Amino acid sequence: MNQQHRDLIERDRKVTFHASTHLRDFAHGDAPGRVITGGKGIHIVDKDGREFIDGFAGLYCVNIGYGRTEVAEAIYQQALELSYYHTYVGHSNEPQIALSEKIIALAGPGMSKVYYGLGGSDANETQLKIVRYYNNVLGRPQKKKVISRQRGYHGSGLATGSLTGLKAFHDQFDLPLAGILHTEAPYYYHRAAEQEGMSEREFSQYCAQKLEEMILAEGPDTVAAFIGEPVLGTGGIVPPPEGYWEAIQAVLAKYDVLLIADEVVCGFGRIGADFGSHHYGIKPDLITVAKGLTSAYQPLSGVIVGDRVWSVLEQGTGQYGPIGHGWTYSGHALGCAAALANLAIIEREGLTRNAAETGAYLQQRMQAAFGEHPIVGNVRGVGMLAALEFSVDPARRAHFDAAHKVGPRIAAAALDENLIARAMPQGDILGFAPPLVATPAEIDEIVARAERAVNKVTDQLVREGVVKAAMSVS
Ligand SMILES: Cc1ncc(COP(=O)(O)O)c(C=O)c1O
Repeated sequence: MNQQHRDLIERDRKVTFHASTHLRDFAHGDAPGRVITGGKGIHIVDKDGREFIDGFAGLYCVNIGYGRTEVAEAIYQQALELSYYHTYVGHSNEPQIALSEKIIALAGPGMSKVYYGLGGSDANETQLKIVRYYNNVLGRPQKKKVISRQRGYHGSGLATGSLTGLKAFHDQFDLPLAGILHTEAPYYYHRAAEQEGMSEREFSQYCAQKLEEMILAEGPDTVAAFIGEPVLGTGGIVPPPEGYWEAIQAVLAKYDVLLIADEVVCGFGRIGADFGSHHYGIKPDLITVAKGLTSAYQPLSGVIVGDRVWSVLEQGTGQYGPIGHGWTYSGHALGCAAALANLAIIEREGLTRNAAETGAYLQQRMQAAFGEHPIVGNVRGVGMLAALEFSVDPARRAHFDAAHKVGPRIAAAALDENLIARAMPQGDILGFAPPLVATPAEIDEIVARAERAVNKVTDQLVREGVVKAAMSVS
């Protein structure tokens, strides 16, 4: 590492509080840092000039890839004209209007209005407020509980961190807050073994039955909404088992429970459809979007409100006056301009189709490389989302002892190969979510580097006696 890079990291250690970081180790120089200075296509570059393939598109958000001057130009032009004016009491800006039209058109029938925020967490916070408001207006003040899923990820605020169903986001924060519940995760690979050979469809029915039992135990008149990602993301990149969304929606309809589709990861092409909901036949009342909306060129999120909820919100303001909700930066002109330029690129370059086609190639290559690998228990994914789940004994779907840190070690080995893949926070799972611009040749390179990294750690595990010598891959 060059001196300039080292100096920058030293300055950073003294003054920055980093997300998802071992704070003590980083502050005291015992955990590595890195300063990223640029990017082009699927690559990023650090202060040493070292180039990495970003196999996770930042945090699955840089869908159009890095270094798109067209978006920079759109932001610049908008800034010259108007960077900001608030959007309270009916004020607007031109990019916001055009963007709302675009989003409503993409979201499809039944969707009515878009409310803007800055990130996925604040958008889900808005969702929770909408759900409360909705039921208060309808005269059902007791109908307020929200059901999420174990392993769901919906943000890391107090309420949205409560929706998140991952332990690390609750421990030491006194979460989840009351009124937020977690039902069975649609994680067939984990659960099927325990459920003794259930088919995917049977497991989906089982998940729906668990949901129904929870609603009945709580009292249907107390349950307001269900929130779910079309594909579980941070919880392990887990596409739903066959028939899952159909079975879940039948239960929600039976008890008049609103459905919030958290499309923060899936929205705008990631799984080869405009929205994950379109791919899985989900008919949400409310949709959360962020990430791919701007490909992270500016922070921007949105809550898309369906007709059914919108009419109640209108009725509410008729009764109570202007809605008591708003952020200073709602509908920020620079964010909306970036989003319009981003969506134009996605459309013009057919990136949603590429996510379907090159994504299918990614899935095929992952299966070919890891389907029979001695420490890979499950290869899964859809579109440009993929995951490898490691197992000490794939035939029994047995987990590694967490102390071996197999996931993080493989992610570190991938980094040695100049490939960024994400060790997912719960379990030994390596996640891939390349920018949607990735070509088949780039997918080949991602898989080749991942293979070298997995093999390297497999051999280490053999040497350490963690896995049997027969599993050696060298
Ligand atoms: C599905 C989902 N919802 C919400 C969020 C929270 O978004 P943010 O980190 O922008 O607050 C994320 C972030 O990864 C996410 O994956």
